[in-house]
Amino acid sequence: MSTPVIGLSGSPNTSSRSRALLELALTALERPGAGGGPSRLIDLAKLPSDGLLGRREDADVSEAIQSVLDAAIIVVSTPIYRATYSGLLKVFFDLLPQDALARKVAIPIATGGGPGHLLAVDHGLRPLLASVGALVVATGVYGTDAQFRAGVPEPALVERIERAALEAAALAAGVTT
Ligand SMILES: Cc1cc2nc3c(=O)[nH]c(=O)nc-3n(C[C@H](O)[C@H](O)[C@H](O)COP(=O)(O)O)c2cc1C
Repeated sequence: MSTPVIGLSGSPNTSSRSRALLELALTALERPGAGGGPSRLIDLAKLPSDGLLGRREDADVSEAIQSVLDAAIIVVSTPIYRATYSGLLKVFFDLLPQDALARKVAIPIATGGGPGHLLAVDHGLRPLLASVGALVVATGVYGTDAQFRAGVPEPALVERIERAALEAAALAAGVTT
């Protein structure tokens, strides 16, 4: 059975800010009437590294890729590392077939240490998602570490997530009708 909404976390951290935003996005999309549907979060860091690096075929990596191919909405979250998305996210995307996200909607989410790399969402994540055919929502989400208190994001960030989720559901409905 395929899951309509897949979340991909590109953070290697167990206590991750970008993952916390991803969880909020999935919750928003799952809400009754939201138009998203059931979701599943895949922690890319938990996948076997040999499979992720393409050194060998790996059943868990193949299954994660298939889940993405079967989904309607993909929510991607990443910490900003060296001014762009994490290497973990990059190696997973390198394994996707061309046009893997065609006719799918994507939400880009990132967190960074400060505001300086805010544009990494638009200059890094958007082109990454578009390169495999995704329709990316207008509202990208970028949070700085200062916008979190004890792991909880400030209301402005939560509002942005809600808006991105609404846009994703509306776009996905348009794609499937
Ligand atoms: C190796 C490394 C590189 C980083 N590079 C940047 C960077 O270039 N720009 C930035 O704003 N933050 C950078 N940071 C800070 C993280 O992006 C930031 O703390 C982020 O919120 C971590 O996300 P996470 O909690 O989901 O792992 C870096 C952190 C690490 C560990």
